[in-house]
Amino acid sequence: MLDSNVEGVEQSVSTGSLPGWEQVDSLVVASHTRNRACQDGAVADYIPVLAQADPELFGVCVVEVDGGVHLAGDADVEFSIQSISKAFVYALVCEEFGHAAVADLVGVNNTGLAFNSVIAIELNDGHPMNPMVNAGALATTALMPGATPDEQWNAIRKGLSAFAGRELELDQEVYRSEAATNTRNRAIARLLESYGRINRDPLEAVDVYTKQCSLRVSARDLAIMGATLADGGVNPVTGQSVVSAEVCRDTLAILAANGLYERSGEWLFEIGLPGKSGVSGGLLTVSPGKAGIGAFSPRLDPAGNSVRGQQATAYLSRVLGLNIFASQAYAPSERSTNVH
Ligand code: DON
Repeated sequence: MLDSNVEGVEQSVSTGSLPGWEQVDSLVVASHTRNRACQDGAVADYIPVLAQADPELFGVCVVEVDGGVHLAGDADVEFSIQSISKAFVYALVCEEFGHAAVADLVGVNNTGLAFNSVIAIELNDGHPMNPMVNAGALATTALMPGATPDEQWNAIRKGLSAFAGRELELDQEVYRSEAATNTRNRAIARLLESYGRINRDPLEAVDVYTKQCSLRVSARDLAIMGATLADGGVNPVTGQSVVSAEVCRDTLAILAANGLYERSGEWLFEIGLPGKSGVSGGLLTVSPGKAGIGAFSPRLDPAGNSVRGQQATAYLSRVLGLNIFASQAYAPSERSTNVH
């Protein structure tokens, strides 16, 4: 497979910065005001307790890599992190085992199918395909260091808390509700076991995964976690180095390809940034070298992605100039006359 790590060649990073603080502040408020009235989508109900979420909640937060925080709406309301945890557990596992090993074991390519697809596993000879779909996330969680599931869970909670810069707590009600109904994830773990793709007790791996999905975060937490990935692995609020810059680069590439499941291509085409959604309505987006964006709004599109979260992020990507694929023609008067 392709490997961009060329021996003896330093990794360069893209440059650029956000507009001034006050402008970002008013644009974050505008991203909220412009989309507040939208009622499209539906709250997830396949995990019973999620159906009780208040659909009107809507928060947006941008955290810059210098630690500056911009908030709008319900940015401090807590919800369960759900699938967004997959990005950070992947980062922790990648930090432990390295770029190539995890890419080989779990994969990096999009399935084009739903997050909890069983067919995707069968179509790919039991390979989990990528760490953002449930098969790959379960295989990744099973790789977490720890002699027991409790030790793995503690390492995950500690690691995700370091990304957020505060102690994240388990939402017991969400955990119990999902643990009582996650028969499909148990089936996926058993299927991975049958293909020799999981190195632990599969049902214990499902339990640790269910706990990681039940950690409580806010849009502000998501923005700080995203800003840590944008900042070469250093949490810009606490100053703690959580993972290496290489792990951030790998994580963001995985998010760009797979973060919004079968909608990942559409998302990249429209927003041009790595992102990750969760079924309780959270949405994390990262502008490498610039900022993390956290959004929360429980109504989802059919693929399980927050509708207003996507709209607010699309607006911010455009007005803040974040799309990584966007460029402008160089001014003719400044063109180089150097010929090699
Ligand atoms: O595996 C599940 O069903 C959930 N705990 C997480 C799913 C999820 O967030 C999918 N995202 N859009």
